[in-house]
Amino acid sequence: MKLLLKNIATLLQIRPLTTQKVSGPEMKELPRLVDAWLLVEDDVIHSFGNMSEMPNFQGIKTLDCSGKIVLPSWCDSHTHLVYAGNREQEFVDRINGLSYQEIAASGGGIINSAKKLQATTQTALFAQSEKRLQEVIQQGTGAIEIKSGYGLTTQAEMKMLRVAKQLGEKYNITVKTTFLGAHAIPSEFKDNKDGYLDLVCGEMMEEIASENLADYVDVFCEKGYFSVADTNRVLQAGKKHGLIAKTHVNQFTAMGGVTISVKNDALSVDHLEVLNKQDITALQESQTMPVALPLCSYFLSIPYTPGREIIGAGLPLALASDYNPGSSPSGNMNFVVATACIKMRLTPEEAINAATINGAYAMGLSESHGSITKGKKANLIITKEIPSYGFLPYAFGSNTIDQVILNGTLV
Ligand code: NIG
Ligand code: FE
Repeated sequence: MKLLLKNIATLLQIRPLTTQKVSGPEMKELPRLVDAWLLVEDDVIHSFGNMSEMPNFQGIKTLDCSGKIVLPSWCDSHTHLVYAGNREQEFVDRINGLSYQEIAASGGGIINSAKKLQATTQTALFAQSEKRLQEVIQQGTGAIEIKSGYGLTTQAEMKMLRVAKQLGEKYNITVKTTFLGAHAIPSEFKDNKDGYLDLVCGEMMEEIASENLADYVDVFCEKGYFSVADTNRVLQAGKKHGLIAKTHVNQFTAMGGVTISVKNDALSVDHLEVLNKQDITALQESQTMPVALPLCSYFLSIPYTPGREIIGAGLPLALASDYNPGSSPSGNMNFVVATACIKMRLTPEEAINAATINGAYAMGLSESHGSITKGKKANLIITKEIPSYGFLPYAFGSNTIDQVILNGTLV
């Protein structure tokens, strides 16, 4: 199957296959072609070029993209898209003055979501989650990472990961899965955190690895959740099972989570709302991708990840949605990009790099996703007629997407 896009006003984010991620000042560049064509063959980008030099294609289904921008789909490297119910009541409680931490301490938060998820069948969980996946696909997401962590029992964690895998199969979208058993301490283990970690690093991980349900392992390294030593323990156990580390660190407290993640060769460290000099130095000596989650800051009214400081230190930065019921009930990557520009002072070029090629890196997908490159997946966003790509974050509340192509197919 072939599909030709012609008269593309701007074809954005053209990169050689060798570009795995972009860092520091490179993030200001967004290589592009003006007045371009692009040929999709099966599920990949076959070729592209300037309209003035377009070969004489005949008998191929063609889309006229006059006035429109074509860019690679968003790569959302951090989500908790599989969950049960919602936490609307906690949202109202926060408006009325309770903090996220106070709600969690009184049995709400992650524990609340775990109770709901444990009581939900796999079929019902799939049905609830697929609605969210359908929506983010329409919003331009072309590859997504999905975490467990609302199960907190072996069976419920496995149920979440099975649903995540099934979603990828049904919707023909690349899904990377992450085992986040160490997301919170379940009430049964309230006074026995080590007992819970025995379960996470033992039975849970063994079963999950033996069924090949996860690519990555994650830990919520935070006061009241898991310490640096706990994080090290889980990441080490993960390594034995071939699970690469991706961690939740520095959301509320800078306590050494970045350094321990880097020491464990983490692919990414995510959140980073509070960041110190030591963390920056650790990242500079690593291949680890820092990931900012601006919708979490927006929704919880907590500080934004200091993106300018991270990029200023010569580091790369990725952006992800953190789609989850407690701290970011939205997976809209357009809004993520806009919020990064508006609140973190990223330029549109930096934000688009962060949400495409660097997001792909944070899921181990740089070789197949995240840029307009011959041979990469034909995962494309076709915008409406807009004046420039800066309009994407500028018109933050508008739907600027006209059509999306996922694995070579118009959705
Ligand atoms: O990334 N911070 C930890 N985990 C999730 C939110 C968990 C929740 O509140 O349900 C996050 O923000
Ligand atoms: Fe998260």
